[in-house]
Amino acid sequence: MFLTNALTGWDDPAQIKVNFPELREEHELARHVKRDARIIVVLGNPPYNRFAGAAIAEEADLVDHYKGIRRRPDRKGKARQAGESLLYTRWGIRKQLLDDLYIRFFRLAETRIGEKAEYGIVSFISNSSYLTGRSHPIMRESLLTNFHEIWIDNTHGNRIASERTPWGDSCETIFSFGTGFGNKVGTCITTFVAVWRYELGGYPVIKKWLGYRHAGRAAGRPLTLPDARHLRSMVQRLAALLVLQEQMDALYEKTAAEAFTAEDLGLRS
Ligand SMILES: C[S@@+](CC[C@H](N)C(=O)[O-])C[C@H]1O[C@@H](n2cnc3c(N)ncnc32)[C@H](O)[C@@H]1O
Repeated sequence: MFLTNALTGWDDPAQIKVNFPELREEHELARHVKRDARIIVVLGNPPYNRFAGAAIAEEADLVDHYKGIRRRPDRKGKARQAGESLLYTRWGIRKQLLDDLYIRFFRLAETRIGEKAEYGIVSFISNSSYLTGRSHPIMRESLLTNFHEIWIDNTHGNRIASERTPWGDSCETIFSFGTGFGNKVGTCITTFVAVWRYELGGYPVIKKWLGYRHAGRAAGRPLTLPDARHLRSMVQRLAALLVLQEQMDALYEKTAAEAFTAEDLGLRS
């Protein structure tokens, strides 16, 4: 386990200079994981900091995507926003709340698992504002595009908006311990699964299924409801396989080691 800034050091060559040898070693090991390891799981409870302020450089790139911003270097080489944001031109939103820190962790997980990994799982407990927020349509669209199965447990408890339970009581956050201090935002637990490129025995299941459908002259026709149900059940089964993979491999090893042979069963002498 390494102490590291989880949001930076994935792509840029230069990182901070650390003078203490122990810290430098930890920094290099974390950097090695970020650059070379095949990461398929991202888990976390990202920080609750709504007013984190505008992000710098590598972190800014993360939220630019959900703001729909492109940047071009100005004469001094500083990256400046080019034109209006998509958030404004498509959705009419000028003032947004995407500088909340947890949003950067979502985008990082989305790029690592949803976009770059062959398959993987992300699970976060976080602020639930992105589920319904006016600032988050591009974020929702992007997450729905890059992940193939999404489970959300909405644990509610938005004390800032004085949320109530269906039976009218005060709806406390799951982090409440009755003192009135601490977290006041509504929370949710989200699990995202990406399996688009997952291969079973060298066979990219979902991609092939859609490819065969295309070849079978269903090209360009939207999925029927039974098609969509079948696709969804395949994604769910692949997700279950991913979750169970390690246990299944261990069980296979164990049973293979203890299996009867054809000789034991008297089928061959
Ligand atoms: C809500 S706390 C969760 C702590 C712990 N993981 C848990 O679930 O109890 C968020 C943690 O993220 C850490 N954090 C904030 N920004 C970070 C970053 N850029 N990289 C790594 N950790 C960060 C904070 O220091 C804090 O400990």
